[in-house]
Amino acid sequence: MALIALGITGSVGAYKSVEVARGLQKRGHDVVAIMTSAAQQFIGPLTLGAITHRNVITDQFASGLNSSVEHVSLASTIDALVVAPATANVIGKFANGIADDFLSSLQLVTRAPIVMAPAMNSNMWTHEAVARNLATLRERGVHLVDPETGELACGWVGPGRLAEPERIVSAVEDVLRPVGSLLGRSVLVTAGPTYEDLDPVRYLGNRSTGRMGLALAAEAARRGGKVVVVLGPTSLVPAAGLESVRVRSAAEMYEAVMTRRESTDLMILAAAVADYTPEEGARPQKIPKGDGPLTLTLARSRDILADLGGWRGSRRTPVLVGFAAETHEVVERARAKLLGKGVDLIVANNVSRADAGFEVDANAVTLVTADTETAVPLRAKAEVARVVVDHVESLLASAAPVATEDR
Ligand code: CTP
Repeated sequence: MALIALGITGSVGAYKSVEVARGLQKRGHDVVAIMTSAAQQFIGPLTLGAITHRNVITDQFASGLNSSVEHVSLASTIDALVVAPATANVIGKFANGIADDFLSSLQLVTRAPIVMAPAMNSNMWTHEAVARNLATLRERGVHLVDPETGELACGWVGPGRLAEPERIVSAVEDVLRPVGSLLGRSVLVTAGPTYEDLDPVRYLGNRSTGRMGLALAAEAARRGGKVVVVLGPTSLVPAAGLESVRVRSAAEMYEAVMTRRESTDLMILAAAVADYTPEEGARPQKIPKGDGPLTLTLARSRDILADLGGWRGSRRTPVLVGFAAETHEVVERARAKLLGKGVDLIVANNVSRADAGFEVDANAVTLVTADTETAVPLRAKAEVARVVVDHVESLLASAAPVATEDR
């Protein structure tokens, strides 16, 4: 799961950028589109905005999101810069360090990997000036997705047609391969709600979708961690390559986590676990309605995180991370949970905001440790996941990996 800046420049192939954006999203990435003024002659920003669910950056100097220093802040948050289609003009600008619009300025500031998919007339493609610029970019580590040979929009037949979106997307995936900071570490993430069955047709559940937990799991896997997701009932599907264990109730989640605690370096408990469950378990038959009120007696379920904290005691492994969904006194209450449950980090979520938390793709959190508090303002859950995992990595640095034979 990554944040990708998709630069679109002025070529007939610009329409294919929509498919590139869709392909990246299908693989779980977040896309921010940047269109040059020539690109806007070929395709409208509205289309890209609707696909990416983000403002499309069209102007270096517009106020607000497109303000003149935006290329600096975006440059440090993106995981990759992709330019598709890339004209001979933008290739020339990138190669020679010209920064006269948002996209070309962004490429000078960012240290993220760059992928370019050129598209142009065959004679432009084979022109010595373009060839030299391409060689410069290659030497600098820019990944080029060469154009295909065929009939071009200008009527010529030859090399120059933009590569198919699928090839561009897989080139991006290649540059995003795990960066390795969690190689050799085993990670367990809980995600989603739990359902406590009342009878064969009814249950007590909650509004968690599991999106935040799955974003954390994908991020840990991207960094090379060996990740197991213990996932409550949700329609979301974990990213490819993650081992997942499906559970339904708080008791099942408890078992799934506890049996793996010895062989795990890092446990992130992002699931919204039921605190109460029907005292006598699920009734075997459907509860019929009566005339009066119905009284259910609920018993406390076991607190997985608190029990992990108690079991770990004063040891440093596994590193334990919990979440706290709060509506008020967010940091104070999170700190009380940190100490009460004996864990290393609580990610506190203000669930009273409509634009963050449950059922939306964004989150605003505060990371609370024994001696720090870090506010992470509203951003996509994938980005929040990166900040959380960055934080966790520094906690892990002081904990030795669990022995390989324990796995
Ligand atoms: N948790 C757990 N097992 C439970 C309940 C919660 O592991 N039975 C974990 C959650 O996954 C989360 C953290 O504990 O990481 C949340 O703590 P909790 O004290 O339950 O806080 P809230 O759910 O935010 O609610 P409350 O303030 O009502 O306690």
